[in-house]
Amino acid sequence: MTNRKLEINYKEYSSIEELEPRDRELVQAAFQAQKTSYAPYSHFNVGAAIRMENGVIVKGSNQENAASPSGLCAERTAMFAAGATYPGVPMLCMAIAGGPEFSLCDSPATPCGACRQVMAEYQKIGKKPMEIILMGNNKIWKFDKVEDVLPFIFDSI
Ligand code: THU
Repeated sequence: MTNRKLEINYKEYSSIEELEPRDRELVQAAFQAQKTSYAPYSHFNVGAAIRMENGVIVKGSNQENAASPSGLCAERTAMFAAGATYPGVPMLCMAIAGGPEFSLCDSPATPCGACRQVMAEYQKIGKKPMEIILMGNNKIWKFDKVEDVLPFIFDSI
């Protein structure tokens, strides 16, 4: 038996001004997307913005439903829109901004497991790492690739 250890590296910033300009632009798009969130049940509003390799930014927000499983998270709304609009174009970076009543949490809201699995799929078919930026009030976290938020990704092929 061998004990093994997994280490995950990520960057923490204390303000948007610390980000490089193109990341700042993507974060602003995530804030705009958050405004379109439809979350009358949870009152937890999330926006996501994806920078595509073709230069386009695709936005999404969580869309809830009275029949709750019929709703969808912001991240998957954005990824499915991006995949359907620009099939095969790599998704280079996704910024996510979420919190109660259109605010942000102090520590960044992190994507759910199902959204991480979908990120893994698009990273795989895009053949480029997908960076992930998570927005909080006091902290911003940036990950270099999906493996850093979803270790031991399931991959059947
Ligand atoms: N939600 C997201 O949109 N993204 C996440 O990363 C976590 C949760 C949504 C789903 C639901 O509309 C609300 O937030 C509360 O869970």
